[in-house]
Amino acid sequence: MSVADRITLRSPARLVVLVSGSGTNLQALLDATEDPAFGATVVGVGADRDGIEGLSRAARAGVPTFVEKLGDHPDRFSWDRALTKAVDAYDPDLVVLAGFMKLCGADFLARFAGRTLNTHPALSPSFPGTRGPADALEYGVKVTGCTLFLVDAGMDTGAIVAQRAVDVLDDDTTQTLHERIKTVERSMLVDAVGRMVRGGWTVDGRKVTLL
Ligand code: GAR
Repeated sequence: MSVADRITLRSPARLVVLVSGSGTNLQALLDATEDPAFGATVVGVGADRDGIEGLSRAARAGVPTFVEKLGDHPDRFSWDRALTKAVDAYDPDLVVLAGFMKLCGADFLARFAGRTLNTHPALSPSFPGTRGPADALEYGVKVTGCTLFLVDAGMDTGAIVAQRAVDVLDDDTTQTLHERIKTVERSMLVDAVGRMVRGGWTVDGRKVTLL
């Protein structure tokens, strides 16, 4: 049996959160980090597009923001390099992709792998991608949920940090199901990030243990 090293962070840990949309998961982190006992501060919020509620939430909380749009770069590599640099400027301990609808590239992973989390509205390894709730509904599963994982080069394939189950109801639409998942997802995210920043964690192969 291998003994995995315990990973611990500075206190309070510096979080950078990346968003592409409404930012309710970001809001849950902003609310949680108001309490110093949580053990982390959101030091920056980044997005891949302008004019989204996630950026407004950050601005209302007084957190600095930045935008790196793919279309402003000649290719994905240069966008990824610029995103990496922008995130790095905040000297983060953890990067949280909270509804960030882009795959991070090689530069980003070289800098932040092992300390980048993503939250996904399905029970991995089922239904990866951007249509988790719709795909679960179309497949006809009776239970779905959400997954928090450490980002790797794949699409929602990283080592799993936390999962929560959500029942699918007979009359669910994609929207009602996703909203119910998001309620559970926000609490999973806050709970797991809080445990990671306060107690640290280990990674042994694919097995993540929160301490
Ligand atoms: C969340 O449900 C998140 O898991 C999902 O987008 C939603 C963002 O909500 N992300 C993905 O589907 C990525 N594969 P929010 O903007 O209100 O936090």
